[in-house]
Amino acid sequence: MDSIASSPSKPRSAREASSRPRPATRRVGILGVGSYAPERVLTNDDLERMVDTSDEWIQTRTGMRERRIAAPGQATSDLALVAAETALQRAGLAASALDVILVATVTPDHVCPATACHLQRKLGATRAAGFDISVACTGFVNALMTGHSFLASGTFSNALVIGADTLSTITNYEDRESCVLFGDGAGAVVLSASSEGAQVIDHVVGIDGGGAEMIIVPAGGSLRPASHETVDNHEHALKLQGRKVFRFAVTKFAEVLKQITARNDYALDDIDLVIPHQANLRILEAAADRVGLPMEKMFVNIDRYGNTSSASIPLALDDAYRQGRLERGKLVALVGFGGGLSWGASLIRW
Ligand code: UT7
Repeated sequence: MDSIASSPSKPRSAREASSRPRPATRRVGILGVGSYAPERVLTNDDLERMVDTSDEWIQTRTGMRERRIAAPGQATSDLALVAAETALQRAGLAASALDVILVATVTPDHVCPATACHLQRKLGATRAAGFDISVACTGFVNALMTGHSFLASGTFSNALVIGADTLSTITNYEDRESCVLFGDGAGAVVLSASSEGAQVIDHVVGIDGGGAEMIIVPAGGSLRPASHETVDNHEHALKLQGRKVFRFAVTKFAEVLKQITARNDYALDDIDLVIPHQANLRILEAAADRVGLPMEKMFVNIDRYGNTSSASIPLALDDAYRQGRLERGKLVALVGFGGGLSWGASLIRW
């Protein structure tokens, strides 16, 4: 009997595998964007009083001035809820019309159930399916790609795509190398199978688990469950190998931006605005320099929010929208990179 294994098909070359996929069958538009950041502001001056650091060091090494911190009892789904309600209102869509909710997060309300379930209940999205997507700082790009695919293929018609994180809950405020970087926030987009709104064009994503240790929360998962020891050792907080991540980020940023423009037959000059993951202003400057992108085309709000992981890109997207920088017709690239290691980009015609 013939088996699949006995007649292997010819493996595709790397070049074939990375070529542009078949055009989607349905067009997909972003009908609304929204974001939310908690009220409490943690400034560099506040951090000076907590660890051995200075406003001068933080600003010159990261570009950050302040970040937002969730209130006790304010969970990731609470942040996501406000962002989602704004996006739905701007889209003119009722929560009950949503078919699916995708929440990119590394700080879910609970390990189980998914944060998407909490958000579904809070929104009253009675018909929606949903799940969480965990790809750290590239989470939103992966969630957008997933929502786009569902809608383009006809599986669903309306999707809510969220990036939300409360990194303050997994930050060790005794570790000066990491605690100055992180903040909390949420951003949302409403996607519809429609030729209206900003048209989602394409995505490029990737991971390399060989770099898993570079950004990691060591305990709390199945490998190292929570114990008194893990709590005492701050093993439930993010640990970074900052310098290594810095080098990876600059290289990958340039690579992924070139890749997504080239495979859609655009030149880098055609990009009007890049909405990057806000990890470090120096990473963004070095990456822009590497590809010859003027910094005016790089959207930056790191000074006000710091690094909010999955929320970073949609928070910046909504900020750009509110500042009037997303005029109709503009070609916009979202670029993410971070824990995994992971990287990705999305291309959108606004
Ligand atoms: O989104 C993905 C997750 N984000 C990241 O992984 C962050 C990526 N990396 C970075 O943004 C940067 O590497 C950091 C901001 C983390 C560090 O900046 P750096 O320019 O790479 O500094 P460094 O690690 O080379 O450290 C320089 C010095 C060290 O002191 P010595 O060894 O030169 O005496 C550090 O101990 O700065 C010291 N340092 C600090 N000093 C004051 C590290 N953190 C601090 C601090 N305040 N908060």
